[in-house]
Amino acid sequence: KKYFTFDPGFTSTASCESKITFIDGEKGVLLHRGFPIKELANHSTYLEVCYILLYGEPPTPEQYATFKTTITRHTMIDDQITHLFRGFRRDSHPMAVLCGVTGALAAFYHNGLDVHDQNHRELSAFRLLSKMPTMAAMCYKYSIGQPFVFPRNNLSYAANFLNMMFSTPCEEYQVTPVLERAMDRILILHADHEQNASTSTVRTAGSSGSNPFACIAAGIASLWGPSHGGANEACLKMLEEIGKAENIPKFIARAKDKNDDFRLMGFGHRVYKNYDPRAKVMKEACDEVLNELNIQDPLFEVARELEHIALNDHYFIEKKLYPNVDFYSGLILKAIGIPTSMFTVIFTVARTIGWISHWKEMHDEGLKIARPRQLYRGYTQRAFKSQNFH
Ligand code: CMC
Repeated sequence: KKYFTFDPGFTSTASCESKITFIDGEKGVLLHRGFPIKELANHSTYLEVCYILLYGEPPTPEQYATFKTTITRHTMIDDQITHLFRGFRRDSHPMAVLCGVTGALAAFYHNGLDVHDQNHRELSAFRLLSKMPTMAAMCYKYSIGQPFVFPRNNLSYAANFLNMMFSTPCEEYQVTPVLERAMDRILILHADHEQNASTSTVRTAGSSGSNPFACIAAGIASLWGPSHGGANEACLKMLEEIGKAENIPKFIARAKDKNDDFRLMGFGHRVYKNYDPRAKVMKEACDEVLNELNIQDPLFEVARELEHIALNDHYFIEKKLYPNVDFYSGLILKAIGIPTSMFTVIFTVARTIGWISHWKEMHDEGLKIARPRQLYRGYTQRAFKSQNFH
């Protein structure tokens, strides 16, 4: 007889071997291919981090230039996809639209795509990385009834995304270096996080040899939830609801009340039992961006005070609940001018490289279909009595 380990939520089960990202949750350490997240966030570009995640080593200047050109060349979306957008309600949540159109890309890149061929896998990776910002910005433009803005080859990854979000046929949006850098940092800080729910979803979907675009759509579905990537949107809504510092104790009390479903959004993590290293950089970045843009956002003060009170509260100390990456990211996105409903979409743009890197690694190592077992708790065999419904 075979016995299985029962591990709901996979709290202690390793599903794969990986060389991409290392986390020490007790110490609050996050390394991508060995490089600390803080150094990457402060001294690299998002595309450089993408290269590192995908290939394992930092690019030489020539490799970087080639990679950048390649990514730039795949940013256009098949014109047929624009018709797909028009099938959605304008008030659809952008994550619903992004999930749909990303999945639809599988219909455009399927015939002739051989996932067992390394070159085909690489091309799929390039396509996904290049097209995700274009589709993300299209989700926003569609929601506000403005025409889509085409990608621009002379802009950086972050600046191109902001341009597609905010330019109109009447006026070109001016992407300042502060905004460009802030966007780039947000992307770096969300790029990968080992076997989280959405990455595991992409791996599980891909383990059967599925089309990569469909697998990434599955990842988007998983990321959307408020316990995962949806937390950035939920966190900003929570800060708005709190409104001012004097309301914080009421919300802290609710978070501690076992009869109340409310949780402090942007707090707690399955792996980190210490300050999330991404949240540390995010907080510094938030401070910088608000200063540089000369924005006085009272919600930043609410967030700082909330963090201070929670970190000194017995409940949060005992359960080792610290701010996570989503706690301050919404405030930076808000300062950049990104609407709240697009926050998780931006997480998606950033995390696409993580998903593809894991999908690629899984294929490089040799596929084994993911097939968890279960503890069956239902009926034992019983007789079926026909009721002659037909
Ligand atoms: N506020 C209040 N209590 C909390 C919170 C919170 N944010 N997070 C966890 N707890 C409590 C929880 O009630 C439980 O208490 P008890 O042991 O008495 O039942 C204990 O802490 C452990 O929580 P858990 O739900 O068993 O832990 P988990 O590892 O399954 O969940 C989590 C991790 C991130 C889903 C959870 O901390 C949470 O819901 N946080 C708020 C949502 C959030 O910010 N998510 C973003 C995570 S980071 C970015 C990403 O992954 O995308």
